[in-house]
Amino acid sequence: MTYILAIDQGTTSSRGVIFDADMKIVTTAQQEFDQHFPNSGWVEHVADDLWSSTVATVSGAIAKAGIKPGEIKGIGITNQRETTVVWDKKTGKAIHNAIVWQDRRTSEMCQQLKADGFEPEVTEKTGLLLDPYFSGTKLKWILDNVDGAREKAEAGELLFGTVDSFLIWKLTGGKRHFTDATNAARTMLYDIRKGQWSETICEKFGIPMGMLPDVLDCAADFGTTNADILGAAIPILGVAGDQQAATLGQACFQPGMLKSTYGTGCFALLNTGDTLVTSQNRLLGTIAYQFDGKPTYALEGSIFIAGAVVQWLRDGLGIIRDAKETQPLAEKADPTQELYLVPAFTGIGAPHWDADARGAIYGLTRGSGPAEFARAALESVGFQTRELLEAMKNDWQGAEEKAVLRVDGGMSASDWSMQFLSDIIGAPVDRPEVLETTALGVAWLAGMRAGIYPDMEAFAANWALDRRFEPEMDAETRERRYAGWQDAIRRTLTCQD
Ligand code: G3P
Repeated sequence: MTYILAIDQGTTSSRGVIFDADMKIVTTAQQEFDQHFPNSGWVEHVADDLWSSTVATVSGAIAKAGIKPGEIKGIGITNQRETTVVWDKKTGKAIHNAIVWQDRRTSEMCQQLKADGFEPEVTEKTGLLLDPYFSGTKLKWILDNVDGAREKAEAGELLFGTVDSFLIWKLTGGKRHFTDATNAARTMLYDIRKGQWSETICEKFGIPMGMLPDVLDCAADFGTTNADILGAAIPILGVAGDQQAATLGQACFQPGMLKSTYGTGCFALLNTGDTLVTSQNRLLGTIAYQFDGKPTYALEGSIFIAGAVVQWLRDGLGIIRDAKETQPLAEKADPTQELYLVPAFTGIGAPHWDADARGAIYGLTRGSGPAEFARAALESVGFQTRELLEAMKNDWQGAEEKAVLRVDGGMSASDWSMQFLSDIIGAPVDRPEVLETTALGVAWLAGMRAGIYPDMEAFAANWALDRRFEPEMDAETRERRYAGWQDAIRRTLTCQD
């Protein structure tokens, strides 16, 4: 038998997913790992946890499926993007915890670089903004703050990678130091027009270019796993950052197609084809995918807190025990109360980019309770998505007024949330049958490269709808509620944009 393995190394858990020759999921294994918050706004992962949870879940998925590792014909890797790892070439040990994409410690550094007038050049080359979100300033922070790191990096003893790169290096027994174009595009060090690391930016950040991985297409030969690790030598044939992998899994292959993934955060990507759109509304230009050396670009809107707001209801407020309780609780909320919860727990992302803002709630009355909090939490995700879509429409005429939004990720399973989303954006929302679009996206890359899975066109034709949500809210209510949200945002921002 023939199988494909997808590794999905995410922000809160690692997953191994086995697909059969028909691209159907056979088994899944998942493991959470600890989040470390050493300072306000700082978020770290122990790099070894990322590695050990990956190996454990892959082995678990293989064992559950009852297959032989040798029957796996290819591996696809997808990952939390931007998270920064620096490790020693000889020992394979990270010299500092991985600094997670949510981490804001380089906020001041970014402010300084902006004050120096460096942002336009960064945006022109990388499509990104000078924000702590991306890897560049996190890598600079490690080189500046870990004893002896810069000297070692200059002596060629250290390697940098996003998580895909770290896993490829570990899986191949230290033989391959690669990444793919979509992950490189999130580092703030990669020129996405020229398709190469930017010497100017690396120089400005004092980053020795020898520590950077080589950049390949999304479907390529990333090396073969060391047989001791998974029980067989298996080729790694597909790599994409998780949001780009979801774009692939959602088959958003035509310019104008749009997807939004509701995981820890929410990330909306609009395929802009050959055009790298320079956003006038503080969205990001990025690489959606790259085949045969040719990038397809996307406009991206990144919201830092989506599903994480539900986690906060559970772990922070303790008003639910399980995420599944959120929807029934929200349904019980008093319709006459209009609470607005701005979940700026780690700042606000697109389109405002306010690293220093923190969460707020408006409209509280004596009658506000858990049900109203739950509803405001779910609604915040819909409101934030609308902000992204409005910015996209203003940025690019290829973004159709009534474009259908394809959704996936944990929260997309909630009918209530998806109906509210459709109501508030005033456009249809399509939820596919397969909600595991991230894993599917990289499994497809690897399976296609292995010659087992169909080409792009046939894959797109396979995409199947579970349910379409159509707007039901009247236009007056929609605009009044959205105006309420915009007011809440205005009051929360620390700098007026
Ligand atoms: O850019 C960060 C993103 O890749 C994280 O995705 O699914 O782990 O929230 P997720």
